[in-house]
Order: sequence, then structure tokens, then C-alpha cells
Amino acid sequence: MANKIALITGSSSGFGLLTSIELASAGYHVVATMRDLSRRAKLDQAAAAAGVTDKVDIRALDVTHSRDIATVVDTVVSDYGRIDVLVNNAGFAVAGFAEDIKLEELRLQLETNFFGTVAMTKAVLPVMRQQGAGHIIQISSIVGLQGSATLSSYAASKHALEGWSESLRLEVKPLGIQVVLVEPGAFDTGIWTQGAHMGEESKKSTSLNFKRSLRMREVIRKIPKADPIAVARAIVAIAENPRPKLRYLVGRDAKIQLAMKRLLPWKIYEKMIANFLKIDQTP
Ligand SMILES: NC(=O)c1ccc[n+]([C@@H]2O[C@H](COP(=O)([O-])OP(=O)(O)OC[C@H]3O[C@@H](n4cnc5c(N)ncnc54)[C@H](OP(=O)(O)O)[C@@H]3O)[C@@H](O)[C@H]2O)c1
Repeated sequence: MANKIALITGSSSGFGLLTSIELASAGYHVVATMRDLSRRAKLDQAAAAAGVTDKVDIRALDVTHSRDIATVVDTVVSDYGRIDVLVNNAGFAVAGFAEDIKLEELRLQLETNFFGTVAMTKAVLPVMRQQGAGHIIQISSIVGLQGSATLSSYAASKHALEGWSESLRLEVKPLGIQVVLVEPGAFDTGIWTQGAHMGEESKKSTSLNFKRSLRMREVIRKIPKADPIAVARAIVAIAENPRPKLRYLVGRDAKIQLAMKRLLPWKIYEKMIANFLKIDQTP
């Protein structure tokens, strides 16, 4: 059989880059998209180092540009005839206390992490429906299953993605289409640096949350971050699994955090989180 075709968003760095290489190394033909082709060098180099340059086809796509989504999906189908795997990976994180985050900042967060993923999925669904098969792999987060101080916008985007994808799974499973949520804990990618957007008000010393914001940033900076290759490998294993589960938590931290949330009485759980984040200290 010809190579399976995988389409990935946000391939310029982090999970998207590594997943493109891992899928290509596993025999897939990968259409690796990124919004800024001037950032393709890292992926080109990684593909060359892995000996998969001919299996990684890099194309431009910003998931907030819905017309471009239709064009990319149409050209992938006309070039390759099918799409077996869609990995909705593109995303970033708005950070800051909810009180300081402007509505426009929250909307922008949802525009990429939620509506961008929905638009991609809706564009690919007719192709998979016609094939009677396909995997749609949504990169959610442990923060899609639990709230997180200073990440309310990000948590909202990933919780929305969780609910939407869980519902979609019920609808399209009878059509042979698998919808899967991947929920990583903390991994060492660009999302902690260039992918983290502090809300404008949060950066100002006039914010009533400024001091605890600085304290929290320090705590978050020190959180151990695992090797992101584990997530890329988990995605390949899901793509290869004809009957994947709905949810895959990836990372020891994610598993421990979710178990704590589920097992501990809420009052104890939130006290532990507050102590860890030093959020209770005034001002
Ligand atoms: N790393 C973690 O600890 C962690 C944990 C849980 C979930 N996640 C999720 O994992 C996914 C990948 O993030 P990452 O950790 O690999 O971080 P990353 O290294 O910052 O990669 C994010 C990628 O998304 C791209 N992107 C952002 N906005 C986009 C848009 N509008 N259209 C197309 N691409 C866009 C970025 O492109 P540019 O290079 O152009 O900015 C970049 O390629 C995200 O959905 C994130 O929420 C990460």
C-alpha cells in the first residue's frame, strides 16, 4: 500500500516538528504546515538528519485563516488523494491573572487553539467520511482537564476542545473516523518562551496582581519539563492504532495531577495548588 498521508499544523517547533519527523520515520508521507515558512530551517534540518526529507512536504498555513485551510486541504487531496491522519497541534498560551486578561486576548486565544482546530477538523472531515477512515488527533493538554491559575484563557481553549472533540467522536466513530485527545503535562518546547503571551495588563506594575504574577512566573519557570519526543512518539502510536482510546494523558506530571484532582477532596486539592504556586501570599 502507498504511504499513509498525515497533515500536521504548527510544525515549525516543539511537538509539531518532532511529530512530523517521527511520522515520516514511521513511513507516513507528512504534510507539515507552519504559518511562517521563514521558520522552516529547523524542520528541514531535522528531516535531513533523520533521512526523511523526501517524506516531509512543508506548506504554509495559519490555522486562523479559514480560506487558506480550505485551499491547503484541497491541494493535499488533489496531490496525494487522501488524508489518513490529521494532527491539530498549532497552539499558544495566553498567560496572566484572569482579572487582567482583556476579552480580545481571550478571543485571540480561542481563535487559534479552539476555532483553528475546529476549522481544520471540519475541512478534513468530508475527506475522511468519503474514505470511511481517518484519525483526527487533537493536541489538548492536562489544562484541558483541570483549571490552572494564570492560564484561564488557555484552560478555556483546551476545555472547549475537550468537550467539542468528545462530542465529535460520538458522531463520527460510526463513519470509521477516530477522534483522539492527547493531553500532555509539561514538556520542554517553545510554548514556555516564544509561545507564551503575557496579557498586556499583566505585564504592568500597576496590575493589582503584579507581585504574585512575578512570583508565579518564577514557580512556573522552575517546573521540570520533560523531553517532548515522548509526545511525538505517543502521537505516532495513536495514528497506528486502528482503535485508539478517546484520551491519552502523556507525562508523569499530568497523570499525578489528574489523579490528585480526582481523588483528593477539593478543599485539600486547592490548598495544595495554592501552596505550590505561592498564590495565597499577599499582595
Ligand atoms: N509543551 C507543553 O508543555 C504542552 C503541554 C500541553 C499541551 N501543549 C500543546 O501542544 C501544542 C504544540 O505546542 P508546543 O508545546 O510544541 O509549543 P511550540 O514549540 O511553541 O509550538 C507551537 C506551534 O504552534 C504554532 N502556531 C501558533 N499559532 C499558530 C497559528 N495561528 N497557525 C499555525 N500555527 C500556529 C507555532 O508557530 P510559530 O513558530 O509560527 O509561532 C508553533 O509551530 C499546542 O497546542 C500546545 O497547547 C503543549
